[in-house]
Amino acid sequence: MTADQPLVLGIETSCDETGVGIVRGETLLVDAVASSVDEHARFGGVVPEVASRAHLEAMVPTIERACRESGVRLADLDAIAVTSGPGLAGALLVGVAAAKALAVGLGKPLYGVNHLASHVAVDVVEHGPLPEPCLALLVSGGHSSLLLVPDVTADVRPLGQTIDDAAGEAFDKVARVLGLPFPGGPYIDRAARDGQVAIDFPRGLTGGRDLERHRFDFSFSGLKTAVSRWVQLREQSGESVPVADVAASFQEAVVDVLTRKAVAACRSEGVDDLLIGGGVAANSRLRALAHERCDATGIRLRVPRPGLCTDNGAMVAALGAQMVARGVTPSALDLPADSSMPVTLVRA
Ligand code: KG4
Ligand code: ZN
Repeated sequence: MTADQPLVLGIETSCDETGVGIVRGETLLVDAVASSVDEHARFGGVVPEVASRAHLEAMVPTIERACRESGVRLADLDAIAVTSGPGLAGALLVGVAAAKALAVGLGKPLYGVNHLASHVAVDVVEHGPLPEPCLALLVSGGHSSLLLVPDVTADVRPLGQTIDDAAGEAFDKVARVLGLPFPGGPYIDRAARDGQVAIDFPRGLTGGRDLERHRFDFSFSGLKTAVSRWVQLREQSGESVPVADVAASFQEAVVDVLTRKAVAACRSEGVDDLLIGGGVAANSRLRALAHERCDATGIRLRVPRPGLCTDNGAMVAALGAQMVARGVTPSALDLPADSSMPVTLVRA
């Protein structure tokens, strides 16, 4: 790390995490996150109004904490980066407003960045510069996408995405069916460790015409329905539900499809580097199976540590710092909070 590398503060508020990270070049200095996840738990999903209010309350304390813990003074920053979209409109607005205020107050350039691209960019703080191109599998509560990434600061191309539920959403919904808390991903991951892959649940869009038409797309809603129906039949017949086995079987169906399609996309595009990001990348079985399948096919795999896979501010700072380093033009000060920002738009 040298002082001539850009020092960037990143703000993330697209969902239920208020994240403020500071990066110098490719070095992470601090990653402060305040989560409102507990406030949503009793509703079984993120409530947008609750998330927005929590961001508002957490924003200034989280910025202060990031500065305190890193020893960085706001005046020393080279730029401010913020998630411009996609995400919950009201939640995004809080981060965008805070970032604009900082940029104007400090007289620094502002970068409004794409949330999905920053899930990819964050890996530089852990594993160094991204291979160009690389292929990215992004799996979170809101997204499941396969992306070809020639340049994360300027050129991200979608190869496929979910046509219904996101992978994380499927984890959360199935967890609910099994009586596990929200967000369900980590609970299913844990329950599955004690279970057997004993039930053959469907793998969406993996055969026949579905596969032809949706080669790199995903579908998890049929799987979710199949799990619900299986559990319901079991309950109706008065038998107990083997939660660990259902969790393991469901999880295997999801990660089988994700890794199969990611490897196929690498091969089809002639790319030897696969990066997995987003909250579901924290899943232990996904990480293990991805390693296994990448090793077998000669693909190099990069997965950030779990804390950098879930939403955070470091990812936004990391993408902002790469944009500054590459001389990307900053955003206009009237940049929008764009809830449906397309993945092809890396900088607002
Ligand atoms: O990236 P993220 O923090 O927020 C979004 O942008 O959506 O992802 C949150 C999602 C949730 O659906 C959560 O259940 C899932 O990531 N998740 C996991 C695990 N940890 C978090 N899913 C499966 N296994 C995990 N260990
Ligand atoms: Zn995310």
